[in-house]
Amino acid sequence: MPALPIEVVCPSCHSVLIVDAKELICPRCQKSYGVGSWGGYDLVPPGTLDRDGALEKSGRDREAASYESQQRKQKTPFFLKLERTLVLRSLRELPAGAILEVGCGTGQTTIALQRLHRAVVASDFSPQSLEILAEKGIPDVTLIGADASALPFPDCSFAAIVAVGVVGHMPAPARERALREFHRCLVPSGVLVLTAFNAARFRAEGTAASGHFGSGIPYHSWDANGLRALAHAGGFETPMLRPYGVFLLLQHLRVRGSWSIYRLGSPVLNAIEGWVHPLLPPNLSFPSVYWIMSARKTA
Ligand SMILES: C[S@@+](CC[C@H](N)C(=O)[O-])C[C@H]1O[C@@H](n2cnc3c(N)ncnc32)[C@H](O)[C@@H]1O
Ligand SMILES: [Zn+2]
Repeated sequence: MPALPIEVVCPSCHSVLIVDAKELICPRCQKSYGVGSWGGYDLVPPGTLDRDGALEKSGRDREAASYESQQRKQKTPFFLKLERTLVLRSLRELPAGAILEVGCGTGQTTIALQRLHRAVVASDFSPQSLEILAEKGIPDVTLIGADASALPFPDCSFAAIVAVGVVGHMPAPARERALREFHRCLVPSGVLVLTAFNAARFRAEGTAASGHFGSGIPYHSWDANGLRALAHAGGFETPMLRPYGVFLLLQHLRVRGSWSIYRLGSPVLNAIEGWVHPLLPPNLSFPSVYWIMSARKTA
């Protein structure tokens, strides 16, 4: 049985699970949870995903092997570095405790979280993605199969929760439940950091603010007020958000040749964006591809 450095509970009823020979059993609702193909516990409650949740899960399983190479092509390595820098910057003042990453996928962000020198629990509902992450053998990271909207952890378990590019792929009722779960699982003064699609990207493309990508993967984007409303629905009173991916928006503006210029100049452009970003006023609305939002649990 895999060792568990943190307490886990039944994601359906929050009872502490009992270790059996091959599984974890819930003494209250009798559900049982086994070990996933990546070698860690799979605590996704069976049969609870709606249609879009199931589409997202199967899409991520299908694309897990090519996910990171696609990302590097679409966003460039320099942009991914910028994104990780912004996430780490938002995690500077944390109370004591472990970090939970939700929707870790194949571990693009997980690797950067190592720099915080804390125990990390990386969770996702896509077994294929977790398999790829497991192969990387990152030290001090526990991999758990979990649905973001039904987390298998007791209240007040984590100093920070990180969700990069996750809520924008969750359907409406599930993403609100997820925000409430993030709030429940954070310690007081704990910090949530998430990234999400900026509706400006889809306006620039002339496509719907919500829908499905060609691969079938569902997406949703927000303007600043909409994303703040999502945070409020989860119980986070004073979310702070800033746009990023300002230069990356060029590729979506259909300016002829802008994408190739972006690729050539991306080390410089992303470095500039990284320097300027902390100077931006909080809660600035500006056309960009993404938002980064951080929020502290105050109550
Ligand atoms: C765009 S990928 C981002 C992966 C990773 N965070 C990164 O930065 O590369 C979205 C990830 O969220 C996961 N995800 C989406 N909905 C989820 C849910 N309800 N519960 C758990 N994971 C979910 C997907 O399986 C996928 O791995
Ligand atoms: Zn239960």
